[in-house]
Amino acid sequence: MRHAELIARGLRHAELIARGLRHAELSRWWAAERRGLPWRRTRDPWLVLVSEVMLQQTQVERVLPYYETFAERWPTPQHCAEAVLSDVLAAWQGLGYPRRARNLWRTATLISERHGGTVPAGLDDLLALPGVGPYTARAVQAFAFGIDTGVVDTNVGRILARWAGQRLSPTQAQQMADELVPAGEGWSWNQAMMDLGNRICTKRTPRCGNCPVRKWCAWAGFNGPDPADRSAGVSTRQAPYEGSDRQARGRLLAALSEREVARAQGPVAMGLERDKARAQRLLDELITEGLITADGEQLRLG
Ligand code: ADE
Repeated sequence: MRHAELIARGLRHAELIARGLRHAELSRWWAAERRGLPWRRTRDPWLVLVSEVMLQQTQVERVLPYYETFAERWPTPQHCAEAVLSDVLAAWQGLGYPRRARNLWRTATLISERHGGTVPAGLDDLLALPGVGPYTARAVQAFAFGIDTGVVDTNVGRILARWAGQRLSPTQAQQMADELVPAGEGWSWNQAMMDLGNRICTKRTPRCGNCPVRKWCAWAGFNGPDPADRSAGVSTRQAPYEGSDRQARGRLLAALSEREVARAQGPVAMGLERDKARAQRLLDELITEGLITADGEQLRLG
């Protein structure tokens, strides 16, 4: 074997050992600190998908009761595909970003039609489903199928940028995340990373003094600007809810999950009686998105 090849092989070996150590340190911490979350007690791909769609833009604590209710009511894609959209939207009421519910319902139908009722494991098949982007697809791969892929949510994106000591592009972050997963540990590594981001490597006041893997971090001790700012996968602040289109849309959907609303009452239900043009635009959008139907003069959910 040529000298260069021997060196390359030696380096790969050293990297594998380092990765093993890193995993051991993270998993020792995680064994003591892991959060017991209901979607971690199942490997059912449909339930994992449901949880990950709910977690896309919403905090764990808010998701918990919605997940439990949804999982009980629509435990398989077939159950969900057979539901009427208005029931799924009503069950989503209060969780926010209701397009996610519509997408999940459409996804349930596609899974039934295209995949014989089974959530696919392939990245391209997953990405073809409505509402399933690179994050959700990989989360399903890792958390349902145990595939060794990196799952870059906002917590993981933040950790990676800090470890690297630089802002990362989406390709860099995904590559780094993929390379870090220890062989055969796709499930536990990604779950542990999310908990590390939630408990230790937090956005505002990271607890570097308690970090089990501080020595892997180029930024530890936070000297200099935070490399996680605007790095790939790291969410930016949500726009204020008060006075937003989201709030007005949410009000109308909330009213419609209780009762029918006449079209003429739409602006009032939205809290926009003094801005009819804006109310009309939002109503048109909700109809186009398939969240509301106008049946003559009546508005209905779904
Ligand atoms: N956020 C997204 N997916 C999660 C998971 N599996 N556990 C905790 N938080 C999450």
